[in-house]
This record gives sequence, structure tokens and C-alpha cells, in this order.
Amino acid sequence: MSKAVLVTGGAGYLGSILCEHLLNAGYKVTVLDSLLFGQHPHMHFCSNPNYDFMFGDCRDKATLQKALKGIDVIIPLAAVVGAPACDRDPWMTREVNFDAIKLINQLRSKDQLIIYPTTNSGYGAKSGDVFCTEETPLEPISLYGQTKCDAEAEILSSANSMTLRLATVFGLSPRPRLDLLVNHFTYMAVTEGYLVVFEKDFKRNFVHVRDVADCFIHCIEHANKMCGRAYNVGLDAANVSKEGLALKIKEHVPNFYIHFSDVGSDPDKRNYVVSNQRLREAGFEAKRSLDDGIRELLKGYRMLKRSAMKNV
Ligand SMILES: NC(=O)c1ccc[n+]([C@@H]2O[C@H](COP(=O)([O-])OP(=O)(O)OC[C@H]3O[C@@H](n4cnc5c(N)ncnc54)[C@H](O)[C@@H]3O)[C@@H](O)[C@H]2O)c1
Repeated sequence: MSKAVLVTGGAGYLGSILCEHLLNAGYKVTVLDSLLFGQHPHMHFCSNPNYDFMFGDCRDKATLQKALKGIDVIIPLAAVVGAPACDRDPWMTREVNFDAIKLINQLRSKDQLIIYPTTNSGYGAKSGDVFCTEETPLEPISLYGQTKCDAEAEILSSANSMTLRLATVFGLSPRPRLDLLVNHFTYMAVTEGYLVVFEKDFKRNFVHVRDVADCFIHCIEHANKMCGRAYNVGLDAANVSKEGLALKIKEHVPNFYIHFSDVGSDPDKRNYVVSNQRLREAGFEAKRSLDDGIRELLKGYRMLKRSAMKNV
């Protein structure tokens, strides 16, 4: 019988692609989401008998208890995501990003596998020269990074669990995110034609949203061998500086004007290269390249021409 997966925050950027991949792989999928962005990216799943949607808040105990019934695997994606969003409402951030994760971890039975995504921005400010492994001490800087690292520690302290330390994700989703670095730089290239880049030498690691979805499925299918650990999830070939990324986008958009500036800083002070060796040894490797993602974004952005806020 096919496994039942609960995806909290499943109507978000990552969740919308993950649900598509899970349904295609034959899983039963229940999404619990409060539709924070007024989004409705799952209308096309509703005809699928293996798909179900619950509108609700992941902080509510009764809602979680109901959602957890008959579930084999829990993927808690619901979060206040990114440093700027978290700083706007620190109280809600702690509740959603930590308290609700602790609650779902307490409510699940020991037979229910939990796979928790966190961010590799927990590696904070390193030199950008030495590869961070899962053994590298976490030094989160922003409230976002702190709450995600605290939640990861909570999850890993219990049985039948694993965590994925995701690189910065790129690619299109029915719930687009333009604040992610590759998505943002590409958007600027095609809409404005110019970009001001600060901290140009700071390095980051990236991964395609569909590789992340495939990775979750790999983790479900190989849980016996993989449980109890954290895994970095990134594309080895995409450990690149912000300058390198901007210049790669320019290869696709030759008229893109890039200005490198001394002014500006990242709230997470991210400057690191990340090793994905542990995940590779567990049998999974990200495949989709930055070039694939940029081509895909350029196609999708042709559909975002009209804005409710601008008569252009
Ligand atoms: N996108 C990335 O680059 C990235 C990298 C590392 C980790 N992550 C993690 O992956 C997860 C998903 O990120 P995303 O990029 O899809 O973000 P997103 O903002 O697109 O999705 C978050 C979803 O959670 C829902 N949500 C928020 N608060 C809720 C609540 N109280 N109850 C129920 N639902 C709620 C929102 O409506 C939204 O659909 C997050 O946990 C994030 O920390 C993402």
C-alpha cells in the first residue's frame, strides 16, 4: 500500500513541487497550510484521489492531531522563511519555526518518520575556502537561522528522524519566490536589465527545487539507512560566489549590466562552500545545473509581465 505523507506548509514554494513529485511517485499526500500568501497553487491536484488539503495553522494542537491520523511520513515545511520575514515578526517566527516543530515532534508516534528541512545558512560566516561538512559547528546569525538550527536539534534528539540542510534553492514553482538569490538575480536581469551586487566574493551553495523534491523521496525510500543524521543538500558544481552567479546569468542575458558595490550586507553573513559528500554516500546526488535553472526561470518570467501595481 502506498505511504501517506503529511506536508505542512506544502502550498509554499518548495512544497508545491514536492507534492507534485510525491503524487507522481504514487504517495498519498495531505497538505496542511494556512495559505499565508493567499496562494492557491494546488488546484490542479484536487482531482487526484491521493491528494488532500487541510486549511489550518501548524501551531494548533487539535489541527495537528487530526492531520497526523493515518500518516506514515511527516515533512514539516511550514515556516516563516528568510531573515527579513522573520525579523518583521520575531514572536510569530519563534512559534512557527520552533514551537510548532517541537509540538509535531511530540505528537507523532515513534512509527511516523519525520524529515525536517533546515538551511545551510546555519554555517554562518566562514571563509568561503574550507568545505563545511555536517560536522562543522553551526553558528547561525539571523533569527531565521537560529530558529531553524534549534528545530533541527529538537528533531535529531528523537528517533526515526533526519534533517536536510538545504542550500539556497532555485527554479520555478507554482508559488514563485523572487527573493532567493538565483531567482532574484535572474529576475533583475530580465525585468530591470541591471543589478547592484554587494559582497561579490561571498560564496553560497545552490540546489534546484526539483532536486530537493527528489531528495525527500530518496530519504523516505532509504530511511532505514539514513535516519538519525543531518545531510547537506546542494549541487557540488554550484558552490559559487555572487559574482560568479551574476556573470553566469549574463551568459544567458548578454545585455545584463552588473555593478559591484562596497555598500550593503547580508543579514545572514553567508560565505561558505558546502560538501555534499555524506548525501552522495547515502545514494543521492543533485543533478539539475544552474544553467538549467536559469533557462527555466527565463521562460517562466515571460509569464510575469503584468503587475497589479504598475501600468507597464
Ligand atoms: N527555499 C529555500 O531556499 C529553502 C532553503 C532551506 C530551507 N528551506 C525550508 O523549506 C521550507 C519551505 O520553504 P519555502 O521556500 O517553500 O517557503 P514558503 O514561504 O514558500 O512556504 C512556507 C509555507 O508555509 C505556510 N505556513 C507558514 N506559516 C504557517 C502556519 N503557521 N501554519 C500552516 N502553514 C504555514 C505558508 O503559507 C507557505 O505555504 C521552510 O521550512 C524553509 O525554512 C527553504
